[in-house]
Amino acid sequence: MEEKRKVIFSGIQPSGQLTLGNYLGAIKNWVKLQEEYDCYFCVVDLHAITVRQEPKDLRARTLEVMSIYIAAGIVPEKNTIFIQSHVPAHSEAAWLLNCYTYMGELSRMTQFKDKSQRYGDSVSAGLLDYPVLMAADILLYQTDLVPVGVDQKQHLELARDIAQRFNNTYSETFVIPEGYIAQNGAKIMSLQDPTKKMSKSDDNPNSYILIMDPPEVIRKKVSRAVTDSIGVVKYSDEQPGVKNLMTILSTITGQTTEQIEEKYEGQGYAQFKKDVAEAIVAELEPIQKKVKELVADKAYLESIYKAGAEKANYVANKTLRKMQKKIGFIPVSK
Ligand code: AMP
Ligand code: TRP
Repeated sequence: MEEKRKVIFSGIQPSGQLTLGNYLGAIKNWVKLQEEYDCYFCVVDLHAITVRQEPKDLRARTLEVMSIYIAAGIVPEKNTIFIQSHVPAHSEAAWLLNCYTYMGELSRMTQFKDKSQRYGDSVSAGLLDYPVLMAADILLYQTDLVPVGVDQKQHLELARDIAQRFNNTYSETFVIPEGYIAQNGAKIMSLQDPTKKMSKSDDNPNSYILIMDPPEVIRKKVSRAVTDSIGVVKYSDEQPGVKNLMTILSTITGQTTEQIEEKYEGQGYAQFKKDVAEAIVAELEPIQKKVKELVADKAYLESIYKAGAEKANYVANKTLRKMQKKIGFIPVSK
């Protein structure tokens, strides 16, 4: 019998356009993992509506994110690529798991605290509940590994706690998932304030590079990236701007930071920045071309998300039924 491969689950929200941070911190790593694992890559549209989305934009972005997955090298035939709202078990499991999650746990989440500060009283209950839906995503597939950026570590730990609590209350139901945080690219910082993470929701577009930014825009944004007056290309916490650009270059080209330091010794930042920009352009241009082709081929995308939903529904419903049974719900039929 073939040995069962370990399961990987990850997802990205179709809220706003994806950045180089999403690409280097998440998608690029997924591409490497698909050979060895049984992978589920989800477009988490239910998560996206925790803040208001224009319906037309949400539709377009959901398909764009899916296209980016495929264009970046995730092979649909080898993986389950699907849209979260196509699998109702996610919403249902999130409700069930809610009843095994404490208010205190949710209100302590850093991301919630940050966002609720921004939205004040009109922060939705969905935003508080967001990590429980994420736990449902992960646990429904009996996931072993969850590749995410460092910013999601706290949510993942909560998912583990919820799983453990459910298992202890009843009996072994969920696999306890582990985080998989790749060394390189785990946190790409803002180009304008390298102490903050690069984020698609930043007000200043010069702070991020979008996966779909045209080459001339990428060059301009990199040339304007904040560095320092030290003038030496060195991987050091004292030079967060330069350090971030080095991380980007190293993650894309595979050069080590020592090799990069050596290459630019005695040269200042001009050539270094040019090379960073060219590396990004070379990496993203072919992906952009492919994305444009894919979003134009609605029938092809539909065939992928239909097949993905079928597989995902099957697996997720199995776990959901197990949960219902343990909780004490009466099955409609056996
Ligand atoms: P989000 O954009 O919040 O839906 O994040 C999707 C994925 O991209 C998650 O795995 C994040 O950890 C990752 N990610 C987002 N921004 C960054 C960043 N600046 N650096 C590294 N990873 C990131
Ligand atoms: N919350 C994640 C983020 O913003 C996205 C996400 C939702 C996710 N469900 C997930 C990531 C399950 C990994 C696994 O980045």
